[in-house]
Amino acid sequence: MATINDNYLKLKAGYLFPEIARRVNAFVKDNPDAPVIRLGIGDVTEPLPSACRTAMIQAVEEMGDRTSFMGYGPEQGYGWLREAIAAHDFRSRGCEVDASEIFVSDGSKCDTGNILEIFGRENTIAVTDPVYPVYVDTNVMAGNTGAANDKGEYGGLVYLPITAENDFTAEIPQQKVDLIYLCFPNNPTGAVATKEHLQAWVEYANAHGSILFFDAAYEGFITDPAIPHSIYEIEGARTCAIEFRSFSKNAGFTGTRCAFTVVPKDLVAKAADGTEVQLWQLWNRRQSTKFNGVSYIVQRGAEAVYSDAGRTQVRGLIDFYMDNARLIRQQLTAAGMGVYGGVNAPYIWLKTPNGLSSWDFFDKLLHTCHVVGTPGAGFGAAGEGYFRISAFNSRQNVEEAMRRIAERFSS
Ligand code: MLT
Repeated sequence: MATINDNYLKLKAGYLFPEIARRVNAFVKDNPDAPVIRLGIGDVTEPLPSACRTAMIQAVEEMGDRTSFMGYGPEQGYGWLREAIAAHDFRSRGCEVDASEIFVSDGSKCDTGNILEIFGRENTIAVTDPVYPVYVDTNVMAGNTGAANDKGEYGGLVYLPITAENDFTAEIPQQKVDLIYLCFPNNPTGAVATKEHLQAWVEYANAHGSILFFDAAYEGFITDPAIPHSIYEIEGARTCAIEFRSFSKNAGFTGTRCAFTVVPKDLVAKAADGTEVQLWQLWNRRQSTKFNGVSYIVQRGAEAVYSDAGRTQVRGLIDFYMDNARLIRQQLTAAGMGVYGGVNAPYIWLKTPNGLSSWDFFDKLLHTCHVVGTPGAGFGAAGEGYFRISAFNSRQNVEEAMRRIAERFSS
């Protein structure tokens, strides 16, 4: 009989968001008239910018004409999109990133998981706690961890706690770790990192030959001009960092699918025989073999994000969600809750009231307010006692959800 990848058996329960959906669906089945408002998964609700739609419609028409029809595109993405990204997202901020170092993909979730394929199995890996669960689960699947303990912590991973006490930014580890996941603006806590904090990570990584996986999927939501948007704003990052970016949250592409990963050509890691190998070359090889690129139509839509109209419309979307975030912060604070994040990020991280556990608060909110959020414990042991509310929803739903929570929880 064929055998399985036994590492999958080490995974705890289901992936967080399907597990939440399962619980909510069970509740809705028993309470079909309950007006449930979902502020759990960070999925956008507002329509695609018209600049993107127009570009995609035009691209569809091109596909319908023999003279402009496009077959397979470059696995790394079309040059015009990579150039637009390099110019607008990096050069405009003084970052040295060449278009050829940008790999267009169908999502940062896939890329942060797939990137492990080009690294050895003996690396020590550090994640923050709480953390975006994909980083942990993909390492479990890849066989980079031992079994989980009672708290859901996997053997072999180095957990860096992020709590209110350290402003949800991890202490630089004392020991050497090889691969480090950083996510700023942070999912789930909504925290951001200062230039000094990121500089300390870059110096650590360069000193130890470590690689930083820098997930900047939420950079568009930064409102404080002093906060870096890219790790490449930091001196020395080109020799130690891979950056993940996405069009999902800023331009509403969660259903359309387009993202990109930056692998600088200066980045190297060690082969078994001790020689240094360029990571760009390995990722390029991996993508050329296992990926056939994002559709021409979607890449044209993504390119339109950088047009004048596209930039204005994306700004409008971000401002809309950040107004939601402000409203959520205000209402929860007024209800007496300890509230974090939501200023430079679309996530609000709150201390559960009355010492409730994360999942107990989830159930209470669902059953009494018909509002869905995400239990902090689902992001890691140190997330216990916290809860995440997403600002991605209509204004009407956010206002109504906050009204219900204020009514139920105000002391
Ligand atoms: C979240 O809610 O954390 C995000 O939607 C997850 C994701 O982007 O995959």
